[in-house]
Amino acid sequence: MQFQKCNINQAAELIQNGELVAFPTETVYGLGASVFQPDAIRKIYTAKGRPQDNPLIVHISSLKQLPLIVKEIPEEFYLLAQNFFPGPLTIVLPKQEAVPDLVSASLPTIGVRMPAHPLARRLIERVGVPLVAPSANLSGKPSSTTAEHVWEDFGGKIGGILDGGPCQYGIESTVITLVPQPTILRPGSITQQQLERVLGRPFARACNHAEKPLSPGMKYRHYAPAAKIRLFDTQHALDVHLEKYPNQRRALISALEPADLYALFRKADADSQDEILILCTPSMRQNAALMNRLIRASES
Ligand code: TXA
Ligand code: MG
Repeated sequence: MQFQKCNINQAAELIQNGELVAFPTETVYGLGASVFQPDAIRKIYTAKGRPQDNPLIVHISSLKQLPLIVKEIPEEFYLLAQNFFPGPLTIVLPKQEAVPDLVSASLPTIGVRMPAHPLARRLIERVGVPLVAPSANLSGKPSSTTAEHVWEDFGGKIGGILDGGPCQYGIESTVITLVPQPTILRPGSITQQQLERVLGRPFARACNHAEKPLSPGMKYRHYAPAAKIRLFDTQHALDVHLEKYPNQRRALISALEPADLYALFRKADADSQDEILILCTPSMRQNAALMNRLIRASES
């Protein structure tokens, strides 16, 4: 079946009318609704099967929109915004009362991000208010990096899909907080080094195995295909596995690019693979965001 692509004017109108629209960003596709429409936001949780205690990121097209959604903005926010906005960075800030509690899952804060994808920013401008948008995938499934992935997960159950082709980064944004100290809540394409260079002070890495993690989303099973992910550091270790388990249906991957990760997970499931064997090269090991997603997927 052909999926219901829409153009930017239709997408904006659908959102204004309380419908959900998936749209491209430079990281992954988002499932968007107006930040000020609680009924539409409720539909996001239902469509994704998302736990109610997992807050949503608010997407802006201009810093002028900030007073609508946040307060008590620290100076360091502007330094980071100057360097990394628009781009794959989400900064957690104190929430304005006008923002529905559904957005923040009742936390006193919200994550704010200005996407670099021109279609995403144009859509926010057309709607005229910031958009909440989690990744456009069923909860617990790999994120969507093409409009076809969104269609696989939601079919005709959402208002429309704005097709911007494959996403540039293919891994979700880096999520950080500045208080009580600079901390990376979720690694992404903006690296710890880049952040530290700009702020001139160290960032901590959040412990996501804590019972109450700073970023609620990190405690859930995530990013995982049905196939079992197995990571190997050496060809020898991989060969030993192959010899021990000769009869599995499997995909064999080496030198994985972050942008291909979720498409690969989805393909392995479409092909009913039992397992995905990944040989981690030194350059993959250096990519904190990629390894975070791979390790989490391999643990589930
Ligand atoms: O790249 C991205 O960030 C994509 C695109 C669509 O922008 N969005 C995305 O959203 O990945 P989602 O909902 O799949 O992940 C948001 C993450 C979750 O882990 C959530 O717990 C965390 O951000 N988060 C959101 N608001 C937060 C807050 N106020 N405090 C701490 N963590 C927060
Ligand atoms: Mg997600």
